[in-house]
Amino acid sequence: MTQETWNAVDDYFLPLVHEDDVLRAATRASNEGGLPSIQVAPNQGKLLFMLAATRGAKNILEVGTLGGYSTIWLARALPEGGTLTTLEIDPKHAEVATKNIARAGLEKKVHVRVGKAIETLDAMRHEKREPFDFTFIDADKPSNLDYFERALEFSRSGSLIVVDNIARSGKVADDKSSDANVLGVRRLRDALVKDDRVTATAIQTVGSKGYDGFVLAIVK
Ligand code: SAH
Ligand code: DHB
Ligand code: MG
Repeated sequence: MTQETWNAVDDYFLPLVHEDDVLRAATRASNEGGLPSIQVAPNQGKLLFMLAATRGAKNILEVGTLGGYSTIWLARALPEGGTLTTLEIDPKHAEVATKNIARAGLEKKVHVRVGKAIETLDAMRHEKREPFDFTFIDADKPSNLDYFERALEFSRSGSLIVVDNIARSGKVADDKSSDANVLGVRRLRDALVKDDRVTATAIQTVGSKGYDGFVLAIVK
């Protein structure tokens, strides 16, 4: 099986995803702004939307905004009065995202916070806020476990935590790997194996974004 086949199948099913002009404009603006094209695929964005909607998520946390593509999908699952906080280190990415989020009419619900996510998360410890019902972790992979631990702190029973890019074209299964991204996933995996606060699974995916996958964890 090749990338060409995966693309063809993603294209075949794309019409049922109903990616709209606002989402397409977000991708276009990100490309024109020179941002890396590493946002989730349309069908994956739709999956995130569906998971958040199924969960009835009222407060969502996202680590790694980029141009706000996954942010828009997720924020569209929010009810009236719902909020999404998204963390981004790169001011340029945050600027593009802020415009994309405004174009989507979501600026009242979405808060983009610029800075190192770990520092923002540590600052958030001292803020009063409702727990997050849904967290999407999709930033620098070496920090996966640190983000997961913080997300857990900010969660409640039934909250869902999703982590992107957990297969890395299969490289995660290589116990000799010295790739920092792979090691970041492996560290998360090792912690999850022993963590009885959550129940988790890992799902590999292929598609227009190559061969990768998600970890999903529900807080007990
Ligand atoms: N979730 C986005 C893609 C995020 S790409 C989508 O699917 O649409 C990863 C993002 O994480 C990049 O924009 C990168 O700048 C950001 N990032 C990397 N290291 C970070 C850190 N330490 N703190 C916050 N954001 C970080
Ligand atoms: C990379 C990061 C991502 O979040 C992603 O979905 C794909 C690739 C990367 O840093 O290469
Ligand atoms: Mg990702």
